Amino acid sequence: MLAQETVKPPSLGVIVSVRGSVVDVRFDEHLPPIYSVLRAGDKGKIVIEVLAQLDARHVRGIALTPTQGLARGMAVQDTGGPLKVPVGKEVLSRMFDVFGNVIDRGAALSDCQWRSVHQPPPPLARRSTKSEVFETGIKAIDVLMPLERGGKAGLFGGAGVGKTVLLTEMIHNMVGQHEGVSIFCGIGERCREGEELYQQMKDAGVLPNMVMVFGQMNEPPGARFRVGHAALTMAEYFRDDEHRDVLLLIDNIFRFIQAGMEVSGLMGQMPSRLGYQPTMGTELSRLEERIANTDTGAITSIQAVYVPADDFTDPAAVHTFSHLSASIVLSRKRASEGLFPAVDPLQSNSKMATPGIVGARHYALAQEIRRTFAQYAQLKDIISMLGLEQLSPEDRNVVARARRLERFLTQPFFTTKQFTGLDGKLVSLADALDGCERILRDEFKDYPESALYMIGAINEAKGKSKPGPSTAESKSKAKADLTPAANATPEPHPIPGAKPQPTLEHAGDAHES
Ligand SMILES: Nc1ncnc2c1ncn2[C@@H]1O[C@H](COP(=O)(O)OP(=O)(O)OP(=O)(O)O)[C@@H](O)[C@H]1O
Ligand SMILES: [Mg+2]
Repeated sequence: MLAQETVKPPSLGVIVSVRGSVVDVRFDEHLPPIYSVLRAGDKGKIVIEVLAQLDARHVRGIALTPTQGLARGMAVQDTGGPLKVPVGKEVLSRMFDVFGNVIDRGAALSDCQWRSVHQPPPPLARRSTKSEVFETGIKAIDVLMPLERGGKAGLFGGAGVGKTVLLTEMIHNMVGQHEGVSIFCGIGERCREGEELYQQMKDAGVLPNMVMVFGQMNEPPGARFRVGHAALTMAEYFRDDEHRDVLLLIDNIFRFIQAGMEVSGLMGQMPSRLGYQPTMGTELSRLEERIANTDTGAITSIQAVYVPADDFTDPAAVHTFSHLSASIVLSRKRASEGLFPAVDPLQSNSKMATPGIVGARHYALAQEIRRTFAQYAQLKDIISMLGLEQLSPEDRNVVARARRLERFLTQPFFTTKQFTGLDGKLVSLADALDGCERILRDEFKDYPESALYMIGAINEAKGKSKPGPSTAESKSKAKADLTPAANATPEPHPIPGAKPQPTLEHAGDAHES
């Protein structure tokens, strides 16, 4: 039961032991219930959340702040309630920590409603489902794994494959056109990224409809464990009280699981598989199930999921997979080839990719693209052993199509302009589908593969076509099109874009000649 509901006068306790973040407190009169928040130290700066009642007089809690200066015998104040965060219109355009303190150097919130971060998920009767596609303007995602409005999408990937970049790009593309509220929750990632995002959002002018909540990697496990709940409480307010749609972005949900593991270890629970907490599934579903659509509003969430050691069978990744309606898997191999966004089309999927929702043409195209990639993946072994020349002409065509599709599905991002030097591109679903369809029809057979790399819509390929095989018309257009962007690409740029080439580009050349 929620601690909020017990109305007993807050009482004073005494610290009996402090071990790192674990604090035992003795209360002689009234024992605070589970999830109560206790305050100790100078001005009550040290915050402790009660997680266990040890006996009739003792509780054990986890500190949500550093416990420096805490000593045995110190007095502890029971606040008489759980952890609370501010909700309401006032929180828009602000940045918070897990306690609901503003951390954007602005003025503190004057008066607003505070709500417990522990809330039950909406009951079944209030839930609703609608299947509508949420366009991101990113070709690979819109074509192959369309996101669901009101769904949960995960961006899976090991370290440094581009999860944060892709998430930031999605925020950039969607927050502007999204009519509701956007909430960004940073869990256990770099503080620098939070500050950068805040500045980016400010510069893009979308801050007035955005809230940011951070519990980054420098904070104690207790804080990282609760920051997701804090952000969700704000999201639920906008959904339930203001009847608005909410876009909830989380970087990174794995850090939530990891924080839970640390808390569980500190509390002395026996670890389960691979050292994870025995309660991982429950903890995760308590959070994920609150991200739901009701008759009053929808929460669409996009979550980055770090995959330890690129092992997709890791229990944390497996548990997260089961909550999502779309999984976008980022592959290290693609990232190392410079094929950004490094989405692996064969491992990613979305429950929206059915003919009933996206339409027959889109579905058929997506299937055809997948089939081409799958065939190419099979042929790769033969190519690396025997060379492209040993393939049948039909197989060679498949390879050519797959490699052109692979390149067409790369895209320059707005958020990576500073290190790619390319202007970002937003591509409509119609343009993306057209491009794929024309590549599958071999219309771009005579174009060098590089003409399709890092472009937006397919007609941009003309600006880069080789003078040789292209038609006179496109040649003259190529001249006219010599925009800075077209100039910038042919020379090798800092991203590993030039890298894929060693064996395979050679194969491509052989095929083209
Ligand atoms: N779309 C892209 N275009 C160009 N470069 C990219 C792109 N995506 C990622 N990168 C490169 O990969 C690097 C790592 O990306 P990012 O920080 O998003 O990884 P991550 O998956 O969030 O890593 P971590 O798990 O460490 O948080 C970037 O700094 C950038 O150099
Ligand atoms: Mg990251």
